[in-house]
Amino acid sequence: MSTPPAVTGASSIERLPMTLPRLAEKKRLGEPIVMVTAYDFPGAQVAEEAGVDLVLVGDSAAQVVLGYDSTVPVSVDEMLMLCAAVRRGLRTPLLVGDLPFGSYEATDEQAVATAQRFVKQAGCDAVKLERGGSSVARAQAIVEAGIPVMGHVGLTPQTATALGGYRAQGRTADRALRLAQDALALQDAGCFSLVFEAIPAAVATELMPRLAVPVIGIGAGGAVDGQVLVFHDLLGIGDGMAPRFVKRYAGLRAEMVGAVRAFADDVRAGRFPAAEHTYSIDPEELAGFRAGVAEVDAA
Ligand code: KIV
Repeated sequence: MSTPPAVTGASSIERLPMTLPRLAEKKRLGEPIVMVTAYDFPGAQVAEEAGVDLVLVGDSAAQVVLGYDSTVPVSVDEMLMLCAAVRRGLRTPLLVGDLPFGSYEATDEQAVATAQRFVKQAGCDAVKLERGGSSVARAQAIVEAGIPVMGHVGLTPQTATALGGYRAQGRTADRALRLAQDALALQDAGCFSLVFEAIPAAVATELMPRLAVPVIGIGAGGAVDGQVLVFHDLLGIGDGMAPRFVKRYAGLRAEMVGAVRAFADDVRAGRFPAAEHTYSIDPEELAGFRAGVAEVDAA
């Protein structure tokens, strides 16, 4: 992977790029792994400067930046544009691109071809796909094509309708067992890491000793190897109710609305722009310009 140039921030200078062996080593040492989503260049720069380990261009982009009402409609081309922008803002975290709904499920060939686009066109280091079941074979095919794959079990938003909505998964013995089988099958298929989303903490705790790959949780409790949050959720940029598992670390939406409103008020009241926001011209040049305009007017 070539190193993208446009990264600023002193803290990124000393850090080594995250690799799969370094990630595995973090698990071995019991060092918590930090993943955050990002969808654009400034978001990637923020993640870089904050020193996270992995950045996921999640298909949550569909809802948080593209305004769709679920993750289902987002296209491969839309995801690739977002991944490429994030790539340009990152140097050290491992970049994972989310394969959108309908782009990998049909055949192994489809899955490999889509994953290759995420690596070749957008510079992703790895891809993520959702569910066990038939996704296990797709994950294996992509891994065999040389592309690292992150699995995702529990609440899998691409198939939320089939799961009965956006709700915690694995809350009966049967469902938890099925989830365990999916997680182990994805690990056996060669996934370098798994996401557990919205499952009981006790189920995750039970599974952890059985999993050798790093597990990143979102609403899966504290026994997993790392945590991920959606950028807009943790910064408080989005509107509406956040899921139970979200912790807000800032309330940027209110600050952003306040700033834009203050700008609008200033413009309407004639307070902006002030002298310091304007450019000057040498008085002689201005005089010459005025004379020239007068001549044009007179002609
Ligand atoms: O799309 C996404 O943001 C995700 C994370 C919540 C893991 O899949």
